Amino acid sequence: MCAMETINAAQAIDEIVELLNTRAKGRYGLTAVTQQQHALQCASLAEQTGEPVEMVVAALLHDIGHIVHELGEDFADQGVDDLHEELGLRYLARWFGPEVTEPVALHVAAKRYLCAAEPDYRARLSEDSEKSLRLQGEPMSEEERGTFEGHRFWREALRLRRLDDLGKDLGAKTPPVEHFRPHLEACVQTGSSTASAASEKMASTPGSPLVS
Ligand SMILES: [Fe+2]
Ligand SMILES: [Fe+2]
Repeated sequence: MCAMETINAAQAIDEIVELLNTRAKGRYGLTAVTQQQHALQCASLAEQTGEPVEMVVAALLHDIGHIVHELGEDFADQGVDDLHEELGLRYLARWFGPEVTEPVALHVAAKRYLCAAEPDYRARLSEDSEKSLRLQGEPMSEEERGTFEGHRFWREALRLRRLDDLGKDLGAKTPPVEHFRPHLEACVQTGSSTASAASEKMASTPGSPLVS
């Protein structure tokens, strides 16, 4: 067993809070907000709209994959997909159950789904989301949409995606990361599986890679 798997829940939460407070100061894509502001805005919106605590945590941590790699901030400009939903899934699955990890794993696929399912959705994407869409794959085919709708947490993934799209407001006021410590405490569970039903399904779907 690796050292990371033996840390307790309190240590896991300390590590996450530390990450958000120290490594999330870079720009969120091409927007003017930081990764931390984006995470806090998404989590605050989830809380304000009455989402369950697992969705609040998923919103807070959905892009944590962006800050656990060393690619810097402008990887999309260089034509690189940082595979952040896969990185985030692997990071979070050590401590959180599927109610948190599956929407995170599916939040990029959810963008591809919505671009196909709602004609005006793509037109409303921010510049950076449109740019990353081209790296992540085109809108889903009808077959891919059917597969996506077979995921247990597909509706949660769509809700997370809509929060994601809203959490880019330069003027928004949010609570600090510490505000969400109780939410993290409510959801964290040590000894979680490192596997993911979503990731396994996505990986096994022809034409629908894990990172999509
Ligand atoms: Fe993301
Ligand atoms: Fe995001």
